[in-house]
Amino acid sequence: MTSAAPQSAPRPLRAGVIGLGWAGQQHVAAYAADPAVELVAISAMEEHLLAQFGDEHDVPGRYQDWKQMIAEAELDVVSIATPTFLHEPMAIHALEAGVNVLTEKPMAQTGEAAARMVAAAQKAGKVLDVSFNHRQRGDVTALKDVVDSGVLGKLYYAKTGWIRRQGIPGLGTWFTKAESSGGGAMMDIGIHMLDMALHLMGEPAVTAASASTHAEFGPLGRGGSGFGISQVEDGAPFEVEDLATAFLRLEGGGTLLLESSWAQWIPHDLCYVTLYGADGGATIEWGGDPADPRKITVWTEVAGFPAELTPAAGEDGRHAAAVAGFLQKVASGEPGAHDGSLALRRARVIDACYASAKAGAEVSL
Ligand SMILES: NC(=O)c1ccc[n+]([C@@H]2O[C@H](COP(=O)([O-])OP(=O)(O)OC[C@H]3O[C@@H](n4cnc5c(N)ncnc54)[C@H](O)[C@@H]3O)[C@@H](O)[C@H]2O)c1
Repeated sequence: MTSAAPQSAPRPLRAGVIGLGWAGQQHVAAYAADPAVELVAISAMEEHLLAQFGDEHDVPGRYQDWKQMIAEAELDVVSIATPTFLHEPMAIHALEAGVNVLTEKPMAQTGEAAARMVAAAQKAGKVLDVSFNHRQRGDVTALKDVVDSGVLGKLYYAKTGWIRRQGIPGLGTWFTKAESSGGGAMMDIGIHMLDMALHLMGEPAVTAASASTHAEFGPLGRGGSGFGISQVEDGAPFEVEDLATAFLRLEGGGTLLLESSWAQWIPHDLCYVTLYGADGGATIEWGGDPADPRKITVWTEVAGFPAELTPAAGEDGRHAAAVAGFLQKVASGEPGAHDGSLALRRARVIDACYASAKAGAEVSL
């Protein structure tokens, strides 16, 4: 009797990360903790961060020149966590070099740039994914289970928002320059809430947007925080909005209200998603502290009686889950199914919101 040859374990994927600000550090930690991955290279402009994270995770390749990293490090996967205007050139370059790409949100400054990234992924036959880590929160995954159970019935309206008490990313960094960020609070944090709400609602297409934008804090130097370490230019003008509101029409007749603000006169940071369905409503809400308890509340009726349910939240997944999801897409062997199209749809909605705010009129998608 012949015994089957022992199967050798698959070679770990060779991973790289470009950008070592807060976002890049989450990707580094996620890859370093995954035994199926070897974190072989990192790239950033800050030598001290290359040394710190290189030493902490024993990363052999440390590059200030990201193109050199792509050329030399023989990567299977790369995370891009750099200022938003760099996502497009970096992603396209990596995809053309045969590397699967996970880029930070927002995908790009415009829908047009995002579309070029999707086209590059399709041409290269590689995965292009975007890190929407907030939808990996335990309350969001549990609320999705509630929606999918059908208990809320047809969802026809939702409200979502992220309002910070004081959270404009470092004034004068790339975040507050229009060319490098593509936009302000809606582009930066509103996109997480838009992603979450559409994901929870079952991905209805957005058909029209009516939005407005305001900048009442940033231009006065108010509402600043410490986020964003790179591309700092002292005294640079504040070129983006610090508050945006949008009314979105959805296919099938539903609507979604979205508000996002980097700074506002409220007691503390507030994030929420509220869903209204034909058979029930549900909400999740949290403040700025990541340690805040996760709470989901569902209102419906049982046997004709009003009922309030409080399903338990799952474990938080966040960046680790976003990276794991990306690696699963790479492992699926179906890059065509994961070409960044969903994130492109998000980018087009944000584009429509800015166009609407500029025109002072509803814009169709
Ligand atoms: N998903 C989230 O929760 C989350 C949170 C924060 C930021 N982000 C996103 O992550 C991205 C980065 O944000 P951040 O706050 O970490 O920014 P940051 O300014 O703090 O850090 C940017 C990093 O990119 C590096 N970089 C810039 N230009 C480079 C170049 N030419 N070559 C190599 N490295 C370069 C910088 O050296 C720095 O390490 C943005 O797109 C942002 O929207 C996402």
